Amino acid sequence: EIRDAVEDLLGRMTIADKVGQMSQCMASSFSFGGNVASDPPEKLVAEGSAGSILGAFDSRRVFELQRIAVEQSPHGIPLLFNADIIHGHQTIFPVPLAWSCSWDLEAIKQACAIAAKEASASGITYNHGPMVDVTRDARWGRAVEGAGEDPYLGALIAKAQVEGFQGDSLFDPETIIACLKHFIAYGAAEAGRDYNTVDISEGTLRNVYLPPFQAGIEAGAGSVMNSFNLYEGIPVAASRFLLKDLLRDELGFDGILISDYGAIEEIVQHGNAKDAKEAAKKAVEATMDIEMVTRSYDHLPTLIEEGQLSEALLDAAVRRILAYKFKCGLMDDPFRYIRPEKEIEYHFNSAHLLASRELARKSIVLLKNDGVLPLAKKGGKVAVVGPFGDTKDLLGPWQFSRHGHETVTLRQGLEAKGLEADRLLFAEGCGVECEIEGGLEQAAERAKQADLVILALGESSDMSGEAASRMDIALPAVQRRLAEEIVRLGKPVVLVLTNGRPLVLDGLEERVDAILETWFLGSQAGHAIADILFGDSNPSGKLTMSFPAKVGQVPVYYNRFNTGRPVTEANKEQKFVSKYLDGSNDPLYPFGYGLSYTRFDYSDIRLDRNRLTMDGSLVASVTVSNTGPMSGEETVQLYIRDLYGSAVRPIKELKGFRKLALAPGESREASFTIAAADLAFWTPANGYRAEPGEFKLYIGPNSRDAKEVEFELI
Ligand code: IFM
Repeated sequence: EIRDAVEDLLGRMTIADKVGQMSQCMASSFSFGGNVASDPPEKLVAEGSAGSILGAFDSRRVFELQRIAVEQSPHGIPLLFNADIIHGHQTIFPVPLAWSCSWDLEAIKQACAIAAKEASASGITYNHGPMVDVTRDARWGRAVEGAGEDPYLGALIAKAQVEGFQGDSLFDPETIIACLKHFIAYGAAEAGRDYNTVDISEGTLRNVYLPPFQAGIEAGAGSVMNSFNLYEGIPVAASRFLLKDLLRDELGFDGILISDYGAIEEIVQHGNAKDAKEAAKKAVEATMDIEMVTRSYDHLPTLIEEGQLSEALLDAAVRRILAYKFKCGLMDDPFRYIRPEKEIEYHFNSAHLLASRELARKSIVLLKNDGVLPLAKKGGKVAVVGPFGDTKDLLGPWQFSRHGHETVTLRQGLEAKGLEADRLLFAEGCGVECEIEGGLEQAAERAKQADLVILALGESSDMSGEAASRMDIALPAVQRRLAEEIVRLGKPVVLVLTNGRPLVLDGLEERVDAILETWFLGSQAGHAIADILFGDSNPSGKLTMSFPAKVGQVPVYYNRFNTGRPVTEANKEQKFVSKYLDGSNDPLYPFGYGLSYTRFDYSDIRLDRNRLTMDGSLVASVTVSNTGPMSGEETVQLYIRDLYGSAVRPIKELKGFRKLALAPGESREASFTIAAADLAFWTPANGYRAEPGEFKLYIGPNSRDAKEVEFELI
């Protein structure tokens, strides 16, 4: 039915109408640069030169533009409204790197569903998210938007996010189209510098970067956005191999492919087209449906007239775009998403705030605890020192909430615990990157009066995200000086970190008594941190990106190859092994790491068989016991290592995890089924295949401290 309606409409459209559907404009005259239309959106929409709008965040603006499209544009085709709803619309959830540390797929899905509910009430129909790039380099600012370094976990989280944003049907007006970005290998930018060159093998492309996209496509994502990088010397926006052969033909993606902002024009800057006209031709031939905001596609009619481009390619693109306008119900009712009364009901409501607080608690990772945490509700004085003690800059990048001023600060969170008057002392000490006159002295003074210090340090929101790479991922110098002033006082210190990437702590980790990694936790950040500090909630987050010990180790990730000269305890003093002269290869905190206020003991691993056939499966299990004083949740992780093959495999690969909630004294079993398909990998010679041979299987609390057994695939 949709197909017939699309064909009918398409048959009545001119080439200019088609190009209009394939072009997007901004909702306002704001632009990030590039060759954008100088005409206002109202004019572009009225003449049919834009089929979708970027960045209309409220129902009033959506209504204004939709009315023009319906009443004035050539065929009255409604607009799609696109926005970056990365971790919430009005209620802001933890940034995606944070929520990935919860390993809680249901909670992540729920956060995305709430974001969709709030955004769609404002008329937004199309999300520029989730970002599913695997990220191994902490210098890259966009680490904050993804699910970390692991393809298996990244794939599960990609699926959960698509399901959350899109619900059961895009016809439901409380859902939004999910867009998987950025296809592909953007996270492999050399030296972690945003937009930089990528040069990786097809094996790495397929085994590391592809799985989250594949999972998102299988979950039904309606859209994919290209990445800015090269692959095999070709900008992705112009790559027929990646976009047409791999994404469309091999993965079966038939949704809307949208270019990232300026990416089509940048084919010229990269040096792969002589001008915007040639760039537009390459992008369309690679099946790029929508050009985001820039206007290279204005050359398409000339290219067709000159016989350089087939109109059939435009038809295919417009078919895909119109199909989604039908699927979302916009063709029958262009105004169905615009529901001001639902904006009032949903935006920042108490149920959504509660969900945000719960996910924020689950996203916090306890990196160290010498026994000072949890804090007692009664007792001595606590000084909260540092630029993150009372700031609302806890939402992170990519959020456009009108409720930023209602963000709960750490100070507010602590005060809400109802501690006796005068127990809490505060001092900002310094700014994020600048000194405050007399700040260090005041902070030291307050700290001296206290029995324990909470040192609240980190990065501001604009220090991660797009175009926010850093070459030195340490705490800013002024904060390091503040930390020095405080730790030298000899008081117990709890370091509370706010940041958008793993940081290098430069030895500070040894001089404090506890460390809480809190990332950017969103609207309820202060409450969630206070819940954890006082033990009202037991930390359960586990890192999804390794913390480098030194910036020179970066990229450092757990699922690396062994090399021909691996360093071991036994050979570490030898010269000709794969090591640094000036420090260990090991990260400070590895993937999967995170502590609890209670203790979890793992039994030895049980295998129901140690020979696995190509069509069979084996079951691996452990018993986990809570031997500590508090109820808690443990994420039990299973890794494998394929010991040898036609191409080498990583020293560990995550293949499963279970979350167990355990009361003190309680034991439960975690069991995992492994089949040959779980062991498959791609090589140029054989495609996707599991290879017979010997494997190790590990189960444990993180990627480093796991017990092991062996099995064989026959
Ligand atoms: O969606 C983003 C993308 O991730 C980076 N460039 C700008 C886009 C705006 O929507």
